[in-house]
Amino acid sequence: VVDIRKFYADTGMFTYDPGYTSTGSCESAITYIDGDQGILLHRGYPIQDLATNCSFLEVAYLLLEGELPTPEQYGTFEHAITHHTMVHEQIHKFLEGFRRDAHPMAVMCGIVGGLAGFYHDSTDISNPHHRMIASHRLIAKMPTIAAWAYKYSMGQPLIYPRNCLTYAEDLLHMLFAVPCEEYKVNPVLAKAMDRILILHADHEQNASTSTVRLTGSSGANPFACIAAGIASLWGPAHGGANEAVLNMLSEIGSKDNVSACVKRAKDKDDSFRLMGFGHRVYKNYDPRAKIMAQTCHEVLEELGIKDPLLDVALELERIALEDDYFVEKKLYPNVDFYSGIIFRAMNIPVSMFTGMFAVARTTGWVAQWNEMVTDPAQKIGRPRQLYTGPTQRAFVPFDKR
Ligand code: ACO
Repeated sequence: VVDIRKFYADTGMFTYDPGYTSTGSCESAITYIDGDQGILLHRGYPIQDLATNCSFLEVAYLLLEGELPTPEQYGTFEHAITHHTMVHEQIHKFLEGFRRDAHPMAVMCGIVGGLAGFYHDSTDISNPHHRMIASHRLIAKMPTIAAWAYKYSMGQPLIYPRNCLTYAEDLLHMLFAVPCEEYKVNPVLAKAMDRILILHADHEQNASTSTVRLTGSSGANPFACIAAGIASLWGPAHGGANEAVLNMLSEIGSKDNVSACVKRAKDKDDSFRLMGFGHRVYKNYDPRAKIMAQTCHEVLEELGIKDPLLDVALELERIALEDDYFVEKKLYPNVDFYSGIIFRAMNIPVSMFTGMFAVARTTGWVAQWNEMVTDPAQKIGRPRQLYTGPTQRAFVPFDKR
């Protein structure tokens, strides 16, 4: 607690908490994390049970509606999502305004924010029907937008969504199919993608979700809020970490170089960190990382791939977990540590990794945004600051400076 009254007598006391390490910003009934025990629950259900037994859309329904869907509820929800996967044809033109080498996250930020200009029947946040349609649209259209960002960067024709495919199959189909050629999605890869989407679906008040809430607290429309979330997710300390992990593993190159890399990560004069290690809340193994590691082995086995980067990753994990620095600071692999290796095996380019995360997290953002908008205690988010500038002083005219 800091006394700022030395400057302004009427402002009183407030907590100064950079990075909000100990500030709760809202009440939420969606996701629970016990960082010491390594527990993650969505609406009370352990992530392991959801990742093993549910489809991504079941988890999306759970996050949005609070309960797992009955078969009938699931059918209705799935129908609503699959029938909103198309984007307005003008979005094509919007997409063509980007350079071919634009980062897919830049394209996603722009297009998702721009959706508010296309869907006027879902921007009135006081109307429950508008909120529901906007939520369905965002969850449904995000795979299409992500896949189109990729296809555009490759200079390939865009592939339109197909309602007969599951959410994960459709995403893979839009990423990898080419016109006039039969493309059958590998069921093992579709299952793995579905699980990756579940593991990334929500994670309570992380940076991007807090950004979505803060943006929405001013009454901004949901498309603008989710675009803000995408922007926040892009950073290497957050969703960009999976891209950074793969770059780091490639730079390490071989198991022989792992010790030197761990040594570098401990050097306080060097800003280098082990990407994919550490978490603000988990001071134990991230439960999602364990499932991700298992999925990684399954995918590589199915594809018959022997990826040397997996050997580097396993060695890095082994050495770091035995190292006093990482043990004392409770730095364990997080969800991003293995996801990059899986994406690489699936032929998803590194520049699309964070985009895949954004597709999954859209569900959590939308659920949290709905909870925030309907919370009677909600106020506009407006943090205070600890002012460190000059006290009031005499103005100096231009010609006297
Ligand atoms: N490598 C080396 N040292 C680390 C690492 C790391 N990956 N992570 C934290 N530390 C050290 C810090 O240097 C700090 O040391 P100090 O106490 O001597 O100053 C201490 O551990 C605590 O770290 P903070 O940065 O204060 O922890 P914070 O909670 O602010 O950061 C974060 C968490 C951003 C995830 C951090 O661990 C990190 O940068 N990790 C690498 C990036 C990453 O993997 N991000 C993905 C996060 S998960 C997600 O978004 C899905």
